[in-house]
Amino acid sequence: MGLYAERIFPWLLDRSLSHPAIESRRRALVAQASGEVLEIGFGSGATLPFYDPARVTRLTVVEPSAGMNRRAAARLAASPVPVDSVPGAGEALPFAAASFDTLVCCLTLCSVADPPAVLAEVRRVLRPGGRFLFLEHVASDDPARRRWQARLTPLQKVIAVGCHLDRDSAALVRAAGFTLAPVVQEIEPAFGAMAPLVPLISAAAAVPAAGATGPAPLAAAS
Ligand SMILES: C[S@@+](CC[C@H](N)C(=O)[O-])C[C@H]1O[C@@H](n2cnc3c(N)ncnc32)[C@H](O)[C@@H]1O
Repeated sequence: MGLYAERIFPWLLDRSLSHPAIESRRRALVAQASGEVLEIGFGSGATLPFYDPARVTRLTVVEPSAGMNRRAAARLAASPVPVDSVPGAGEALPFAAASFDTLVCCLTLCSVADPPAVLAEVRRVLRPGGRFLFLEHVASDDPARRRWQARLTPLQKVIAVGCHLDRDSAALVRAAGFTLAPVVQEIEPAFGAMAPLVPLISAAAAVPAAGATGPAPLAAAS
């Protein structure tokens, strides 16, 4: 990875995603985590302060970027819960099947190279009945906005190191075989002119209990 992806982008990301409108959503998402927890796309560790030591037995985090891992070091040292940082990527998680009760993914499905592969891994490492908690900006339900998202995504992928504005993450989660109730897209007014182009969803999907039928055919990723 180059200088921009490993040095400048992690710094930029910390500044742009420390917005209170994001912090409050991270807090609400992570507060639901319990038991043995895995977080993928840990970044610089912005979610870490929000894990509840009374609910989380152990947290494992996976982040492929060395630059992000460097920035996460101070937060890891001050973690409120026992934590292991493991090198790797969501497409090939280095864990046995059915290892975790909760999997957290915060603003990361937009950036992974192969969402169906990542979601298959998420499902594999979660126990039956386990929960997949995610917060993402997604493809808009509004066709006009979605066209703009598609136009701007090539630029966004360069600026934000692989991030897609036009990814339908809820559909991808369902296609991976999770149970997911209808999700509401939120337009965050604090994001100003960009707000309609980054509608947010926050949701808890469930792995069907043991014995349920397998995943539906995977949808193509954008
Ligand atoms: C927009 S950042 C979000 C970071 C953090 N979750 C947060 O809320 O600030 C996306 C993160 O996903 C990571 N990422 C990219 N591809 C990934 C993959 N295939 N598997 C796991 N993480 C990945 C990036 O390195 C980056 O740290």
